[in-house]
Amino acid sequence: MIGGHLIHGHAIVSADNKIADGTGLTPPTLRNEADWTRFQAALDRAVVTALGRLAHEANPNRKGRNRLVLSSAVSGVERREDAWWWNPAEVPLIDALAAAAPAAGVVAVPGGRRVFDLFLSIGFDAFHLARAAGVTIPGGIPVFSEVARGRSASDILIAHGLVADPPEILDATPQVDLTVWRHA
Ligand SMILES: NC(=O)c1ccc[n+]([C@@H]2O[C@H](COP(=O)([O-])OP(=O)(O)OC[C@H]3O[C@@H](n4cnc5c(N)ncnc54)[C@H](OP(=O)(O)O)[C@@H]3O)[C@@H](O)[C@H]2O)c1
Repeated sequence: MIGGHLIHGHAIVSADNKIADGTGLTPPTLRNEADWTRFQAALDRAVVTALGRLAHEANPNRKGRNRLVLSSAVSGVERREDAWWWNPAEVPLIDALAAAAPAAGVVAVPGGRRVFDLFLSIGFDAFHLARAAGVTIPGGIPVFSEVARGRSASDILIAHGLVADPPEILDATPQVDLTVWRHA
């Protein structure tokens, strides 16, 4: 909880904990309609979506949601036509949220990797982790940098004080499960 805001991460990962292929694209095998519908509903409920510049550019903001885009090429916090832009090296999260989302509520964090790393260090109140069980992406981008040191996303969330709810099956074929991890 940061200044009245709850921080909720959202990712769909492969069995080997990757969010995209080595070129930064999300392969079709990581796209799932049930997960997408659930994810979109969560974004609709959030007061702001905090995401990396590449994900912002790759996903046009058709619904006009309130976005906070992370970039090192920004001076502090800037209001631009398309979104709020934020450089975390210059302004703490609490001040960025005071500008971008003054009302209390959920901050949805859909990544990518460096964004997940940053919010992992700040602290997630919950992390919604969907997993495409039969998919592996050798050489892909891991959900957290620590995955490269041989740890799974689950291991990393446990190490940061989160506890798993019982998993839910989002889709049977191909198999996609969802586990919501919550701060104990
Ligand atoms: N499967 C999933 O759930 C999932 C989740 C997220 C993303 N993806 C996919 O993965 C693809 C790429 O993700 P990605 O991790 O390569 O890129 P990304 O996080 O979307 O964007 C990376 C950029 O965001 C900025 N940024 C991120 N963290 C920052 C920080 N702490 N401080 C300052 N700037 C920061 C930097 O912009 P500047 O270069 O301007 O400094 C960086 O180059 C996306 O296109 C998306 O489709 C999938």
